[in-house]
Amino acid sequence: MTPRSHSVSPAAVIVLAAGEGTRMKSRTSKVLHTLAGRSMLGHVLAAAGALDPRRTLVVVGHRREQVIEHLRQVAPAAVPVVQEEQGGTGHAVRIVYEHTGPLEGTVVVTNGDHPLLTGETLRALVAAHESEGNAVTVLSTDVPDPTGYGRVLRDADGAVAGIVEHKDATDEQRLVTEMNVGMYAFDGVLLGEALKRLTTDNAGGEEYLTDVVGIARSDGHRVGAYKVADWVETQGVNDRVQLAEARRQLNERILERLMREGVTVVDPRTTWVDVQVSVEQDVTLHPNVQLHGATAVAAGASIGPNVTLRDAVVGEDALVRDAVVESAEVGPQATVGPYAYLRPGTRLGRRAKAGSYVEIKNSEVGEGSKVPHLTYVGDATIGEGSNIGAGCVFVNYDGVAKHRTTVGDHARVGSDNMLVAPVVVGDGAYTAAGSVIIKDVPPGAMAVARGQQRNVEGWVERKRAGTAAAEAAKRARENNTQEGDK
Ligand code: UD1
Ligand code: CA
Repeated sequence: MTPRSHSVSPAAVIVLAAGEGTRMKSRTSKVLHTLAGRSMLGHVLAAAGALDPRRTLVVVGHRREQVIEHLRQVAPAAVPVVQEEQGGTGHAVRIVYEHTGPLEGTVVVTNGDHPLLTGETLRALVAAHESEGNAVTVLSTDVPDPTGYGRVLRDADGAVAGIVEHKDATDEQRLVTEMNVGMYAFDGVLLGEALKRLTTDNAGGEEYLTDVVGIARSDGHRVGAYKVADWVETQGVNDRVQLAEARRQLNERILERLMREGVTVVDPRTTWVDVQVSVEQDVTLHPNVQLHGATAVAAGASIGPNVTLRDAVVGEDALVRDAVVESAEVGPQATVGPYAYLRPGTRLGRRAKAGSYVEIKNSEVGEGSKVPHLTYVGDATIGEGSNIGAGCVFVNYDGVAKHRTTVGDHARVGSDNMLVAPVVVGDGAYTAAGSVIIKDVPPGAMAVARGQQRNVEGWVERKRAGTAAAEAAKRARENNTQEGDK
C-alpha cells in the first residue's frame, strides 16, 4: 500500500462492550463501573473522542438496556449496535459492519474495559498507522506477565506476522511478552473484506478479530504494531481488584497533573480527585480529601483535612475543613467547618462563614454573614453582615410544604432561635435569645418571643430540702445575709 498523507478524522471508532464481565460479579454491566467519576466506557469514549471520529459505534450485548441508557446520557452521539450472541471480537465488529455498510478510511477498534488508555496514545496509534500505510496497526506492549492475552508474533526480520491467542499458542509462543492490548487501527475497506473470512476454527470457538492481522499479512498488506512504552496505560479491568488498581493509577495520574500545575497535595494516598474536577494554582489539598463530579476549586483555597466536595464551587482563598459540600457554592475567603454540611442550592458569599455543626440547604448567606455554631438553615436568604446565633433552626417545613425565611443585612438573630417560615427578619433587626419567631420583624426592631422569666424565691430549700442544691442555696443565702450585715 502507498502511505497516505497525515490524518483526517478516522471514519469510525468501534468500542467492544458486549461481553458479560462475569468476574465483576455484579448486577451492573462491567463497563458501567466507575472510576474517577466516570464509567469505564465513559473513559474509553473520552479517549476515543480525542480522535474526533466521524462516527462512534458501541457494540452492546449483556445488560444492553443499562449500557444504551448510559450512552444516551453521556455520549448521545455514540450509536449502540446490538450483538445478540457474543460470537467473539471478530463477530462483534462484523455485526457493526452489517449495521454501517462499508467503511472507508481508518477504523479504530477498542475494548470497552481499558479505562486507563489515553487519547494521546490512540492518536499516536492512528498517526503511526497512517504514516506507515498499514492495513492493520496493533497496539501492543511488553508486559511482565502476558498470561491469558493474545501475543504479537513477529518474523525473523521483526515484522508483525500475526496474533495468537493464549489458548491457541504453543509453549514457545507463550514465551513472547509482547501482548495485544486489544486496540487496533484498520484500513476500513480491508477490514470489511477480512471480517467475511474469519472462522471459528480455534480454541475459543469464536470469530477472532485478531485473525484479521494474519489475513491482511498473508494477502501481502503491510501490518504493524505501535508499542506503548508504559504498559500500565494498557491495563484492562476484568474484576474488582483490577478496578481498584486502575482507579488508583488514574488518581495518581490526575494528582500528578495537578501538582505539576501548582496544587499542593499533602497526602496523595488519601486524596481522590475525579477527572472533571478543576483545581487552580496554590490550592492545598490536605489529607483525606475527595473532589467529585464537576467540582471547581479556585486559587489559594485550602481544602481538608477530611472534606468531600461534589459538584461544588469553591472561591479563591476559601477555607474548607472537615466538611461535606454538595452542589453548593463557597465564596472567596469564606470558611466552612469543621463539621459542616452544605447541601444543594447553598451559596455562601464572600467571607461568609458556616461553622461547626452547621447544616445549610438551598440558602444564600450574604457577604460576610456568619452562621458559626450548631445551626440548621433551610430555604433561607440571609443578607450581608448578619449573624445567626448558636443553636438556631430555620423551620422551613410545616409537614406539607417548604417555606422561605428572609434575614436582611446586618441583622442579629439571637442564640437558640426558631425562625418559623415564611418569615422575614428585617435589615438591622435583632431577635432575643431563645425566641420563636413566627411574625415578621421590622427593620431595626428587637423581637422578643419567649416566656417571661419568673423566679420563685426559696423554692429549692423548701421543695428539695436535704439535697446538695438545697445546701448550696442555704449557704448562699447565709453568706448573703452576712454580707448584708457588714
Ligand atoms: C482479546 C484479544 C486478545 C487481547 C485481549 C486484550 C481477541 C480474539 N483476543 O481477548 O488478543 O490480548 O483482548 O484484552 O480479540 N466482546 C464483544 N463481543 C464479543 C466478544 C467480546 O463485544 O463477542 C468485547 C468484550 O466485552 C470486551 C472485548 O470485546 O470488551 C474483549 O473481549 P474479551 O473476551 O475480554 O477479550 P479476549 O477475547 O479474551
Ligand atoms: Ca478482557
